[in-house]
Amino acid sequence: MEENFYSVSASLGSIATLDVAAMETIYRLECSGEQFYNLLADRIGNAEAAELLRRNGREELAHARRIAKALSIRLGHEWEPSAEVSELLPIPMPDEVTPDLFRGIVQGELNGDAGYQAWADKEEDPEVEKLLRLNGREETIHAERVRKVLEILGA
Ligand SMILES: [Fe+2]
Ligand SMILES: [Fe+2]
Repeated sequence: MEENFYSVSASLGSIATLDVAAMETIYRLECSGEQFYNLLADRIGNAEAAELLRRNGREELAHARRIAKALSIRLGHEWEPSAEVSELLPIPMPDEVTPDLFRGIVQGELNGDAGYQAWADKEEDPEVEKLLRLNGREETIHAERVRKVLEILGA
């Protein structure tokens, strides 16, 4: 099966320590995360909930920027994404966005925080560690916003 946003997200759990390739995968996933949230926001007929989703999306892009910074620190020179890493992952969307989908996103974001903190625990560079922890903490905030979306949608 061709890799997509969901399969790459699911594969992150098996990454114990971050090497450059793993960080590039995370960069691509975070950029795609912005797109994912915008696609969701386009599919719900509620402006308040859509804005919460778009806010998460903007922060996913900021996460990608932090990963780019972490890569530059790790490599000792300015990191630039290759054409492949710059390309967003395919994000197949269901015809209907259901509460179950949002519940899955809540769990995915919480797992995302746990993953970042676990990588940070093993990180030797204090600056990189800090960037990872910042990203992680915001993933939990994303989970809270998606819970709020469920509330707004009355699910
Ligand atoms: Fe993120
Ligand atoms: Fe997130």
